[in-house]
Amino acid sequence: MHAGPGPDSNARPATPERRAPIRLRRTATVVAIVATPLFTSGCVKQGISGKSVEVHGLFFVILWLALPVFLFVEGMLLVAVLKFRRRAGDESMPPQIPGSRRALTAFFAGPLAVVVLLLAFGEVAVARVDRNDPSPAERLVVTGFQWEWSARYVNEEFTVSGRTLKQPMTMELPVDASTEIELRSTDVIHEFYVPDLLFMKNAVPGHPNVFTIRPTKLGTYRGQCAQYCGLWHSKMTLILKVVPQADFSDWVTQQKTAASAGGSCRSSGSKISLVAKTISWDKTCIGVAVGVPFQITIDNQDKGIDHDFAIYDTPKLKHRLYLSPKVTGPGTKTFSGPALPAGKYYFQCDVHGPAMSGTFVVG
Ligand code: CUA
Repeated sequence: MHAGPGPDSNARPATPERRAPIRLRRTATVVAIVATPLFTSGCVKQGISGKSVEVHGLFFVILWLALPVFLFVEGMLLVAVLKFRRRAGDESMPPQIPGSRRALTAFFAGPLAVVVLLLAFGEVAVARVDRNDPSPAERLVVTGFQWEWSARYVNEEFTVSGRTLKQPMTMELPVDASTEIELRSTDVIHEFYVPDLLFMKNAVPGHPNVFTIRPTKLGTYRGQCAQYCGLWHSKMTLILKVVPQADFSDWVTQQKTAASAGGSCRSSGSKISLVAKTISWDKTCIGVAVGVPFQITIDNQDKGIDHDFAIYDTPKLKHRLYLSPKVTGPGTKTFSGPALPAGKYYFQCDVHGPAMSGTFVVG
């Protein structure tokens, strides 16, 4: 029964030489217990915005409130373990006492005080984080869908998007300017999470969530969908670049030029085909002959997922010129579309938006 060294060492007379290493070990253990949260808290990032600094501050409030509770509880535990240890050969019952009113009062008053303090500090921090800038410099609609992100820059009228399993969305934001993000989802619940913002928000279908951020540190930060959302949840990442205002303007110009120029490709007659696999088309440009109706064959290889095919005048989606019925995968269907005047158009799957898009060239 008594296999450990504890009861054994109690049985033998403790000499000063034997006591010293035990005391040293105990001291080391206590120091390690106290020091670990302090050292690891040094690793907790302050983040890259005013709101993240707020959250970082709350972390330390909670840490400092939790530390005395931890030390007290662990201390009492150690006292109980060491002082009231069962001696070898002692079979007598310990004293049976009903407790005291004073102990009971302390038992309730202590935690109550801690909880009240936590609530007060927590509510203040949450209110500050939830306070949105009423006049943001930039407005974005960020949409999550299985399994990518896209971001529409409302003022500048262009969209960036990731391509599932191919490349994550890269979004740029100007430093020291506030950006409003309207978070949407087209299918299931996703979660926008950039660790360096110390902030996450759910993208809920049918319920846009709006928040503002004001990044204050330049850099490239990684983000990840933080709500399990299906097969490729782990690949639903994004890249946030915080850049100087001048660089941001350059990037906006680049994006707009690229969007209006579109891709280019030769006409493949009036019969065209598209393959949808892992929420991506096999082509980013389709060419058709001018002046004749076209036939499009959609081969949807995504099991249980709908795709369709829409043509718009431009990526701004002002005028939709054609929309095919939905094709549920796996399945192949052929539809006929209208004859269009020569020119460059934009196509996408209306279910997945810019993540499945390209240039539609007529002529
Ligand atoms: Cu979207 Cu996980």
